[in-house]
Amino acid sequence: MLILVTGAAGVTGRAAVRALAARGVTVRALVRRPEQVAQLRTGGAAEVVVGDLRDRAALRRAAHGTGGAYYICPQLHPDEEAIGEGLIRTLREAGAWRLVYHSVLHPQADGPPHHLMKLHTERRVIDSGLAYTILQPALYMQNLLVQRYDVATHGVYRVPYSVLARFSWIDLRDVAEAAALVLAEPGHDAATYEMAGPEPLSSAQVAEQWGAALGRPVRAETLRRAAWAQELNRSGVGGYALDARAAMMTYYDRHGLVGNPNALTWLLRRPPRTLMEFLRDAD
Ligand SMILES: NC(=O)c1ccc[n+]([C@@H]2O[C@H](COP(=O)([O-])OP(=O)(O)OC[C@H]3O[C@@H](n4cnc5c(N)ncnc54)[C@H](OP(=O)(O)O)[C@@H]3O)[C@@H](O)[C@H]2O)c1
Repeated sequence: MLILVTGAAGVTGRAAVRALAARGVTVRALVRRPEQVAQLRTGGAAEVVVGDLRDRAALRRAAHGTGGAYYICPQLHPDEEAIGEGLIRTLREAGAWRLVYHSVLHPQADGPPHHLMKLHTERRVIDSGLAYTILQPALYMQNLLVQRYDVATHGVYRVPYSVLARFSWIDLRDVAEAAALVLAEPGHDAATYEMAGPEPLSSAQVAEQWGAALGRPVRAETLRRAAWAQELNRSGVGGYALDARAAMMTYYDRHGLVGNPNALTWLLRRPPRTLMEFLRDAD
């Protein structure tokens, strides 16, 4: 079956295309820019379509002849709900029957707008009439690598929330492998799977493990919110993307983001990778 993967040139999309191709799934990747075509082909996509997810004609071209889609929405996109709605409608019109939706852990979380938009999209997916599976991943361990330089040179891991807030960090390779299994095997229709790493860790514990992996001390520190926002602003992040991130950090500060690894362990037929395994591989 030909499967459309959206957001295919992004962090999640590239890992998913690789894992799907490795499982023998034929992938049509949807990317936004022509210069991304070659990379996706090398990464395992059999076909690549260039187009904007908000453009119905592009979506029709992308969905034509597919059996279904792995829907990955671009990160912090203000039109997230409309994009999901448009894709579901296009898949149905194109005669596709399968949909795997890449949602997020706890889409019900009250505050971050992209969680709520994912919750609303989950409702549409469930009501779509398509054979659906919803994946709800926790935060990727790979996100930590943006701090690699600071951690290695200054021994400080900085977060814009309490260092005591806990997260079920997950290795993106496990998410991609599980997504590929769900698409390649029968038996996952009408299922919603939480995808959480094996142990909820505070930032203080992340720093401790990172230090152990590097063989020198690393401490966790809370970055003042204004300084964090300024830094993001300087790197060009503003508007909805900044507001959504700020709401997310407020939520994280109060609640962290903790899930249960049982569903993923069952799917993978092994426990998900630990942070220490990830840090050693990343070295
Ligand atoms: N990061 C995490 O820890 C995490 C955890 C759970 C769930 N998620 C969810 O995973 C999803 C994917 O995140 P990600 O980090 O993989 O995203 P990403 O790296 O930002 O990738 C998004 C891709 O979508 C493309 N794109 C942006 N706008 C588009 C448009 N209008 N039409 C077509 N393509 C468009 C981007 O193109 P360009 O390459 O041109 O920018 C990029 O290649 C998000 O919904 C996020 O909420 C993430």
